[in-house]
Amino acid sequence: MKLFLDTANLDEISEGVRWGVLRGVTTNPTLIGKENADFLPLVKEICSIVEGDVSIETIGDDTDKLVAQGREIAQIADNAVVKVATTPNGLAATRRLSDEGIKVNMTLCFSATQAILCAEAGAYIMSPFLGRLDDIATDGLRVLSDICEIYAIQGYTTQVLAASLRHPLHVVEAARMGSDIATMPFKVFESLVKHPLTDSGFDRFLSDWKEAMPHLGELLPSMQEA
Ligand code: E4P
Repeated sequence: MKLFLDTANLDEISEGVRWGVLRGVTTNPTLIGKENADFLPLVKEICSIVEGDVSIETIGDDTDKLVAQGREIAQIADNAVVKVATTPNGLAATRRLSDEGIKVNMTLCFSATQAILCAEAGAYIMSPFLGRLDDIATDGLRVLSDICEIYAIQGYTTQVLAASLRHPLHVVEAARMGSDIATMPFKVFESLVKHPLTDSGFDRFLSDWKEAMPHLGELLPSMQEA
């Protein structure tokens, strides 16, 4: 499962890239707005520092305008993916953009029926929003599981991107269910690596090593300063 960051913050994205495990980024109008930066230079910069897909959202619900925005977004960079909301007009725009070879991430998807439509419209990615379903007392993971099962049975090639993830267990369950991608806020991404036994074990090994160093004889040159 590919790990994406759900952010437009350059510091967070650079840190994810530094870890060597970040495969892409999703943005949305809310996340872009938080950065207080000029839109075009910001999204160009994100596309340049991330090797994988960067989703950039269209605005509005007029099919012709969505197609026009989609064409322009696709020109921003080779890894720019056009985000389109799962509405009837969004489906029509996705069909047209996909037919032109433009990659579309259908977003704001909350049901298996919408997921089937996204695949049939030729979407490159579809994004079920787990956390927002949980917020209204609907089991987001159950919806994701249904979508993954249907896509496998139908042989759909549209990638399933688990979105609106709120905690590390969402990520684990998305992987277990066969999601192709999981996108998450930096706080969740960071929590994936944290374990108290790793921290205490690390401290113990380091202090034992320092204590033993006087008796260890010749060390590797790079270990002298560890
Ligand atoms: C995905 O592409 C969306 O940007 C995102 O996951 C929405 O998450 P939220 O429900 O935390 O806003």
